Amino acid sequence: MRKQIAAANWKMNLTLEQGKALTEEIAQADLDLNDNRLVILGVPFPYLVTIKELLTGQPNMVVAAQNCYSKKSGAFTGEVSATMLTSIGIQYVIIGHSERREYFNETNDMLAEKVNICFENGLKPIFCCGEALEIREAGTQNSFVENQLKESLFHLSAEQLTGFIIAYEPIWAIGTGKTATSAQAQEIQVHIRAVMAAQYGAEVAESISILYGGSVKAANAKEIFGQPDVDGGLVGGASLIADEFVLIINGLK
Ligand code: 13P
Repeated sequence: MRKQIAAANWKMNLTLEQGKALTEEIAQADLDLNDNRLVILGVPFPYLVTIKELLTGQPNMVVAAQNCYSKKSGAFTGEVSATMLTSIGIQYVIIGHSERREYFNETNDMLAEKVNICFENGLKPIFCCGEALEIREAGTQNSFVENQLKESLFHLSAEQLTGFIIAYEPIWAIGTGKTATSAQAQEIQVHIRAVMAAQYGAEVAESISILYGGSVKAANAKEIFGQPDVDGGLVGGASLIADEFVLIINGLK
């Protein structure tokens, strides 16, 4: 059975002390985890090692970076490579978040390169996709998201995509308090799985964890995660509040 995942994306928030306190509060809470339920904390680069160490002894809680660069190494001042992340023991990285696409001009082709460099280094990408409001209003979200997947992932092998993680995040629902309904999330996520099945077969598609992101909170997590093709969430704002995030984790299927 594919993994059910509660992933936090702290984005550019919190001091180290605040991040440590938040992590400790979550780790010490009464979490309903097992080998099929995973918690991933997407934390800023400078905190990766410290937060990772705080999670020692928690087999179902890991940290993730929020980005990495597409090139192996070299004169790219300010960038962080996949090799650097694995060298400090990081296993997961968020790739292609809509904020990276929008503010840092990351294109589908660049994200294909990033996904490649992750695989070359044994890093597991959490690949983000999702449409803007205009596209949703035009009713073309399915083909838009399908194209994001095609252009960034379809060069990969079935083996690489087995157990892969995709996060569907409609941009109009991010940080707006406007959540997609559970029916809207299910509708597009079943489409994402069908697109992957058409290209790679049902077995690969069934193994992919497809997360929903966009104003997930304790009050709506259980219902959204209850949909058959929603395998958990990628959570921004509510992941910064321990009590909220703990309830979100415990809302996993
Ligand atoms: P919010 O949960 O704050 O809407 O953010 C979602 C998100 O972008 C997670 O990556």
